Amino acid sequence: MTSATSLFSPVEDDLRVLNQNLRQLVGARHPILFAAADHLFQAGGKQLRPAIVLLVSRATITGQDLTPRHRRLAEITEMIHTASLVHDDVLDESEIRRGIPTVHSSFGNRVAVLAGDFLFAQSSWYLANLDNLEVVKLLSQVIMDLAEGEIQQGLSRFDADLSIEAYLEKSYYKTASLIANSSKAAAVLSDMSSDIANDVYHYGRDLGLAFQIVDDILDFTSSTETLGKPAVSDLQSGNLTAPVLYALEEQTPLETLIAREFAEPDDLDRAIALIQESRGIERARTLAAEHAHLAVKRLDRLPASESRQTLIRLADYVLSRVY
Ligand code: IPE
Ligand code: IPE
Ligand code: MG
Ligand code: MG
Repeated sequence: MTSATSLFSPVEDDLRVLNQNLRQLVGARHPILFAAADHLFQAGGKQLRPAIVLLVSRATITGQDLTPRHRRLAEITEMIHTASLVHDDVLDESEIRRGIPTVHSSFGNRVAVLAGDFLFAQSSWYLANLDNLEVVKLLSQVIMDLAEGEIQQGLSRFDADLSIEAYLEKSYYKTASLIANSSKAAAVLSDMSSDIANDVYHYGRDLGLAFQIVDDILDFTSSTETLGKPAVSDLQSGNLTAPVLYALEEQTPLETLIAREFAEPDDLDRAIALIQESRGIERARTLAAEHAHLAVKRLDRLPASESRQTLIRLADYVLSRVY
């Protein structure tokens, strides 16, 4: 099992700088919002997204050092991701994130909504200051996509007719868009051709989809303790993910349980048992592996480097991660 930290070795020092900068960037103008945001930054996530931005940056400027703009882009990416989590936890009413209480459970919903907005606003400001219109457009699109993803998810709760295609589209908006567009932005900052920029966009897109599918599997197969966030929570809240959608093709009673929104006492447990007995989880794993494989193929045209090699290995990590 590869852990994220040992995998990121080519950008280990860069991530250390990133962590120092992130806390400073959030600023202390509003002490309560600073406390709320800092609380999450200090807990430290896996930092997969900024690591990818830094790796794509290093893979596209071989022989030279990272520019301050590449570093800032990685910081903005983690800031946008963290903002989206603060809001997501309000919507999902989750009590724990990165192994610590969520912003809304510590500071209340009002502070959490403001803290998320504050982080989005801060990230937009730093983004504009990169002075690169194409990069501004790519990352602004991501902020729109995140809202679109949460809206689509909210509107399709308990909808057993949701197709795998619609689930993947929603997952693109919620998760893959940020990884795809921040990867592309890193290539743009390195003045790469549009072909290479598009290749890394598609790498991020497919890797992001694989990552979300695995996250949705872990919700069924892992524990709150390991994940640092609530397990078995998606189904309960009506978020029907790949394992459920595949299980629905085999297990007719599952549809009835979902349609009545698990209103009877044993409904949720029965639904989980039906999913576990089905091939849903196995088929979801195959789907994730297909996307991870597509992601790797997109790196063929990048010049050989240690960073490119790490981007390839990341695809295996995404499939085998346990948290
Ligand atoms: C959580 O992302 C949200 C999803 C897209 C599943 P991560 O699992 O990367 O969260 P952190 O940053 O490590 O906490
Ligand atoms: C990703 O989806 C959330 C965002 C990108 C905001 P999830 O809802 O699966 O994320 P977790 O499981 O709460 O981390
Ligand atoms: Mg959530
Ligand atoms: Mg999840």
